[in-house]
Amino acid sequence: MNRKPPWVQGPDGQSLEDSTADTLGIPDRKRNAPVGVFDSGVGGLTVAREIMRQIPEERLIYFGDTARLPYGSKSKDTIVRYSRQVVRFLRTKDVKAIVIACNTASAYALETIQAETDIPVIGVINAGARTAVSATRNGRIGVIGTEGTIGSGIYTEVIRKLGPQTQVIGKACPLFVPLVEEGLLHDSVTDEIASRYLSVLKGKYIDTLVLGCTHYPLLRSTLGRLMGDAVTLVNPAYETALELRDLLKAHDLNREPDACMEGEKYQFYVSDLAEKFTSFAAAILPNQVRETRKIDIENY
Ligand code: DGL
Repeated sequence: MNRKPPWVQGPDGQSLEDSTADTLGIPDRKRNAPVGVFDSGVGGLTVAREIMRQIPEERLIYFGDTARLPYGSKSKDTIVRYSRQVVRFLRTKDVKAIVIACNTASAYALETIQAETDIPVIGVINAGARTAVSATRNGRIGVIGTEGTIGSGIYTEVIRKLGPQTQVIGKACPLFVPLVEEGLLHDSVTDEIASRYLSVLKGKYIDTLVLGCTHYPLLRSTLGRLMGDAVTLVNPAYETALELRDLLKAHDLNREPDACMEGEKYQFYVSDLAEKFTSFAAAILPNQVRETRKIDIENY
């Protein structure tokens, strides 16, 4: 009979406790394992950055699916297939938990991946929704994201479960991702496009706006200026990092700050354009990214 909780079992159901038994119950090897974080590209680095800040003792393996970005305009079936491949790749690195840093992949694939995976998996949407519900005073929340995330209705569903009286107004902003990828963070073109998108939300008297896409925190100053001081901007990345911290503790998987370190603390993988990723990452992360490795994700 299988009596171990799923996150202490190998993929074939064999117990990891049995194979590396020690007196701690959950073996040190498992606690010292990295957390896998993935996104369609560089945007998820805003989530990785927050994890590095909030739980600096944890090791990370980051994968950016740069060959197949954007996820935001693709179908649910495609995103589930991509996410399964990425999870298979991350499992080859012995990750102890997975963060789906991409809003679109969280919207479309989180439930499927959680059901199929025997380690803890979280997305970014619950964290963003929770923060928004506690931030709003007038109960009117705006959510901006990709066509996939907004079209899925997932933010509305989760926010209304947490705050049934809340009004949620979603707006897809598909041009924001290419603008960020082009580095146009402070540019008149970005201002013009943002004012058009946000005018829809401004007429709805929202007091809270969820940045429901990995790239949008990088446009925070533009979005904040256009929405005005009365609107609280919610970046789900911060709350996701805290959720991960609590989840690891709850499963006794948190790494001790003074545990000895074998190998690199942070590793980065992409499916294309490794050098471009490295220079983008250098602008976002507090730590130097020494190397980004390219893998063929279609092999997984
Ligand atoms: N990472 C995606 C998200 O958060 C944005 C970029 C894309 O469309 O792939 O939804």
